[in-house]
Amino acid sequence: MTDNARQIAYWNEVAGPKWVRIQGAMEARLAGIEDMLLARAQPRLGERVLEIGCGTGTTTARLADAVGSSGHVTAVDVSRPMLDVARMALAAQRNVTLIEADAATARFEGVFDLLTSRFGIMFFEDPLAAFGNLYRALRPGARLVCVAWAPIADNLHWSVPLRLAIERLGPPKPRAPHAPGPLAFDDPAYVTEILSGAGFAEVAVRAEPVTLIGKSLDDEAQVATMMGPAGALLDEKQADAATRAELLVAFRAALPDYADRNARLRATVHLITARRA
Ligand SMILES: C[S@@+](CC[C@H](N)C(=O)[O-])C[C@H]1O[C@@H](n2cnc3c(N)ncnc32)[C@H](O)[C@@H]1O
Repeated sequence: MTDNARQIAYWNEVAGPKWVRIQGAMEARLAGIEDMLLARAQPRLGERVLEIGCGTGTTTARLADAVGSSGHVTAVDVSRPMLDVARMALAAQRNVTLIEADAATARFEGVFDLLTSRFGIMFFEDPLAAFGNLYRALRPGARLVCVAWAPIADNLHWSVPLRLAIERLGPPKPRAPHAPGPLAFDDPAYVTEILSGAGFAEVAVRAEPVTLIGKSLDDEAQVATMMGPAGALLDEKQADAATRAELLVAFRAALPDYADRNARLRATVHLITARRA
């Protein structure tokens, strides 16, 4: 049995509403990663796709266009606020089914040709059981193509704000290795062990450099106060408005160290590929 209750509450009550509030900035900064994911996944006309953690549905829309009216996208998420946005955005899309469910335990028919996700697979309490469930959703020979964040040391857009936040607020409470969260899949050996253990063949985890496209340096500083490890630390420490305002200024001042004038930031993700035997 898996129990993702904590993450489900987090994505409904904390992270989902925040994401929706700054949806434009989040979509813009992650657009290049979506291009990379789709270029590797190559969804084809007529295919049946299972998308995990579809959020507000940006990747879902592109998958639906790629598979066309003879194909279908089943997109799953636990966050009602994010799914509400996806439902509005995809209302006219006839080849999409949006499901509010925990992907770790939802029952799927074993018919999918492609399992894909942009950053929606790192939140399982028991990833081995979750990927076992997802494995059974695929037809033999189906492919898995997902992205997850690489280590924080290779992602200055997170490590720099986190360092500044720790200096001001103290460290986060200790976490178990690979605990559910954005960095749970930062170790290729661990990801390989999980996917292989769940039955997948041809597992590969490749670090890929990517560019995040910030709307502006001011917007990027705002994103750092809300999302990622620095945003999570501010929530954990229940930072008050004055502290948040102070850190916003500190994050903004540090940005030129790792972003260009147009708010382009270098980052690294893991491109994870595998196949159902
Ligand atoms: C970082 S967001 C990514 C959203 C979207 N894929 C994107 O890139 O814009 C992670 C998403 O995974 C979802 N999620 C977390 N745990 C999940 C679970 N057990 N089953 C399905 N979705 C889950 C969250 O609600 C959230 O929408």
